[in-house]
Order: sequence, then structure tokens, then C-alpha cells
Amino acid sequence: MARSLSPMHRPIGMFDSGFGGLTVARALIDLLPGEDLVYIGDTGRYPYGSKPLGDVRRFARELARSMVDDFDAKAIVVACNTATAAGLDELRAELSVPILDVIEPGARALVQTTESGRVGVIGTVGTISSGAYVEAIEAVDGSVELTSAACPGFVEFVERGQTTGDEVMVLAERLLAPVREARVDALLLGCTHYPFLARTLSDVMGTGVTLVSSADETAFAAMGRLADLGLLRETSQPGRHRFLSSGDIDAFRELGGTLLGPELDHTERWPLETTRTPTPRCRGEEQP
Ligand code: DGL
Repeated sequence: MARSLSPMHRPIGMFDSGFGGLTVARALIDLLPGEDLVYIGDTGRYPYGSKPLGDVRRFARELARSMVDDFDAKAIVVACNTATAAGLDELRAELSVPILDVIEPGARALVQTTESGRVGVIGTVGTISSGAYVEAIEAVDGSVELTSAACPGFVEFVERGQTTGDEVMVLAERLLAPVREARVDALLLGCTHYPFLARTLSDVMGTGVTLVSSADETAFAAMGRLADLGLLRETSQPGRHRFLSSGDIDAFRELGGTLLGPELDHTERWPLETTRTPTPRCRGEEQP
């Protein structure tokens, strides 16, 4: 792609396995309304949380490369905990644009929120088993007592648009038991899909527990980083927002519009026709 725009006028690229990163996109659009945004939901290969981290790392690499090569992104926000947990070092070494993640800002927000020093993190199997949060939280404050719980099944509910109801409640009661028993007073939603389940999660945890989402903190971190690099777009014009999906683009527009808001009124197909197809869902599986 021809690089015709000055760096600050280039878009911010974001990606997730599906709809989850829209929680971060919402925060970013609200905080930086003048920025152009390109969002890819890799719904053709979701969920990431139950896949080997090596596969997720490969998907993240393809998406990030596409952000730079196809969309001329000036920065990339990896709006997915699992992709972050899979490791971004390679990406950061390979690409010259700043790459922001959701784990470090989330860990910081969690530690700032707790009063008792007992905190919880919930996330996908991939994220929790990677130990990425243990490391990130320890780096912020080694004295907090952390209890983690993997929550397989939550992402699937969100991707189906089922964010409340008895089934979600029953699963949440079961999966949140360890963090309830640990009497945490702050619970980090360590998967960007989970804020869409906040009503149920809050009912299960009770009023004494603050739910922490990394979305706002990540948006502020992105703003700070872009400002430091002289990449913030200075304009009173509203930004342009593009949404792409590797799965069913009509379904993405429909549910995505409900979850994000009016900015998502159109979805394009990813990968773009001009680029090569991404690797299949998983080794040995066919392209959907
Ligand atoms: N939203 C993603 C995360 O933050 C991944 C969900 C999934 O595909 O399992 O981890």
C-alpha cells in the first residue's frame, strides 16, 4: 500500500478474535474521536482461548502484518488478552509501529483498585495458563494476593449475542467460585469479551467487588503513547472507522453494531482480496 499520509493521519489498527476487542474500540473512539480506526475481528478462527498459544501467535502476526501492509496503521492495539499472552515480542521486533496490549494496563488498573490487596483475574484458558497476568501483576505490585480462574464458555456466549440469562448465570456461578472464595475485592476481566457479561458477573460477585475492565486504561495508554511519539491526530473532524471480519460479515455487522454502537454500520471482509489468505483455523483444519 502506498504511504501517502503523514504519520499522524494514519489509522490506529486493532484486532481481536471476534467481538471482544470492541470493548476497547468503544473506549478508544470515545477518548480519541478524531482518530481513524481499523478493527479486525478474526471471527473465522475464533475462539483463540482454547487454541495452542503458538497458533494464536501466528494469527496475531498475520493480523498485525496486515494492519501495517494493507492499512498503513501508525500503531496497533492488540485488543485481545490471549494474543497478548501468546507473546508479542516477535511482533514488536518485526514491526516498526508501536504495539500496545491490554494486559499491562489491566494489571495496573487492578492493583490501583483493590483496597484489601486480594485481587482476582478471569480470562480464557490460554491467558490464565500462560501466567501472563501473574507476571504483569507482580511487576506492578508483588504484595497483592492473586487468584485466577479460567472461564471457558464465556466467549462463546458473547459471540452468540447471549450476554444475560439463566445459562450465563449458571456457568458464571460455577466458574467464579474460586475468586469468590478468595474474597477478592477487585476482579479484572482479563478477556476483552467479558465486559459484555458484566451484569451477570457483577450479580454473581456481589456489590463489594469492583469489576475492572482494561478497555479504558488501554485507551488512555494508547493516547499517552501516541502523544509521546507525536502521532496523535489533531483535528476537530470525526475519525473514520472501518470494521472487518474473517467470518460472516453480515453477522459481524449486526451483532457488532448492537455491541459497539452506531459506528459499526458496515463490515468488510478480511483478508482483503488483494492479499493472500491467512492460515487455516488450526493446523490441519480447512479454511472456513
Ligand atoms: N477476547 C479475547 C481475549 O481477550 C479472546 C477470546 C477468545 O477468542 O477466546 O482473550
